[in-house]
Parts: sequence; C-alpha cells; structure tokens
Amino acid sequence: MAPVLEIKGLHAGYGPIKALRGIDLEVGKGEIMALIGSNGAGKSTLLMTICGIVKPTAGKVFYEGRDVTGIQSYNIMNQGVAQVPEGRRIFPRMTVLENLQMGGAKLSVAEFGRYLSWVQELFPMLSERAQQLGGTLSGGEQQMLAIGRALMSKPRLLLMDEPSLGLAPLISRRIFAIIEEINRRGTTILLVEQNAYAALRLANRACVLSTGEIVVSGDAQEMMDNPEVQEAYLGG
Ligand SMILES: Nc1ncnc2c1ncn2[C@@H]1O[C@H](COP(=O)(O)OP(=O)(O)OP(=O)(O)O)[C@@H](O)[C@H]1O
Ligand SMILES: [Mg+2]
Repeated sequence: MAPVLEIKGLHAGYGPIKALRGIDLEVGKGEIMALIGSNGAGKSTLLMTICGIVKPTAGKVFYEGRDVTGIQSYNIMNQGVAQVPEGRRIFPRMTVLENLQMGGAKLSVAEFGRYLSWVQELFPMLSERAQQLGGTLSGGEQQMLAIGRALMSKPRLLLMDEPSLGLAPLISRRIFAIIEEINRRGTTILLVEQNAYAALRLANRACVLSTGEIVVSGDAQEMMDNPEVQEAYLGG
C-alpha cells in the first residue's frame, strides 16, 4: 500500500531564502510522525508546502499515491488533508459554531451532525460556547476550536503546527490526549512540536529538521534514547 504521504527531494523557500533543501519523508497510514527542530528550521514551511500554500521549487509530494506537488490548497484539502496552522487562524468574527460549520462545509447534513457531535464530545467547551465569537475565546480555547474545525473536514491526513504553543501545561496535556484519540480513530498525523519530549512520546516515528534538512529520523523511542537528540532537543 502506498504511504499516505511521500515526499521526495523537496525544495522550497521565499525568494533567496532556501527554507527546505531536499526533504525526503514518508508517513504511513495510521501513523503519528513527529517533526521537531529549532526555530527557523523549516517545519512550518514543510507543512505549508505539503498543503499547497508554499510552492516547491523542486521535488515531489505524493498523497495517497497521487502526485499533488504544487496543487492549489483547496484542492488538496478537498482530498482529505487538513491543517491546524501555527497561531490557530480561526475566524475571529464568527461564532464557535460558524467556525465549525466552515470546517464541515463539504459534509452532508447527516455527516455534519455526526462529526459535530464527535467534535463537541472531544471538546465540550465548543458546545457550551457555540454562540461565542471565536476572537473572544482564550488561547487554549482557540486552539481547541482550530483543531475542531480541522476535524470537521473529515481529514485522513492532519497536519498540526505547534498545537501546544503558548498553552498552560494542563491544557497542553489535554490537547496531546486528544491528538492520540484522533489518531486512534484512524487519522494519520504529521505533528510539528516545540515540546519534543511530548511529541516523541506520542509519535510512532520522528524526524529532526535543521536548516531545511532532515538530520535524524527513526523510531520515536529510539530518537528519545539518541544522545544527540537528547542534548539538542530534550534538554540533555
Ligand atoms: N513569508 C516568509 N518570507 C521570508 N522568509 C520566510 C517566510 N516564512 C518563513 N521564512 C524563513 O524560512 C525559514 C524557515 O521558517 P519556518 O517558519 O518554516 O521555520 P519553523 O521551523 O516553523 O520555525 P518556528 O519553530 O520558529 O516556527 C526561516 O529562516 C524563516 O525566516
Ligand atoms: Mg513554525
């Protein structure tokens, strides 16, 4: 079976800035792949290149065996890829429910109801605050809304950019537990995280990105035991 995501020799950047310099990566069906690395390593750029927001200058992206290199982002979203972007990007002037409706716009009425119940079960807050404006939610609540909105599109591949950034430890733990639950339900996840320890505990496999290149990759447990990874990303 083809991997859900296969990236070959991917290059991308911003004018003279080469943010990705030949990335090779495979994510299998049902996996959680963690992507760790310092600020500016190219993690967000990689996610944005996969989902068509940044155009690659070389290399290929295959999704479920199809070449999706450089396609429009709505097009890949329609094929079952959803992104929880860095900094959340919810619709601040829409209510919580309207934000979720935007995520689920492609679903049938019956499916919409089913997914909404599931998302509201994962995050009861989203049902209690259904009529509150997105922009007035707290940071942690906005993150939950961003995840909920992505889930409403029924993704088979979920790209998550720093879901725990800026959140209190208790809320972060809740988010990680929910990521695990989403994965248990069958969604493949590519997870970018500053909290390398939490990401490695959650993931099956992981890779480290450094100035646009993958410098270490492997089984998440092995990565946790790797002295170089420990020193650079796990605080020794
Ligand atoms: N819109 C942009 N225009 C120009 N350069 C950019 C742009 N976005 C990112 N870059 C540069 O590309 C490189 C990779 O940035 P990217 O945001 O992918 O890193 P990151 O690994 O996500 O970092 P962080 O952990 O800080 O989020 C950096 O050198 C950054 O300055
Ligand atoms: Mg980033």
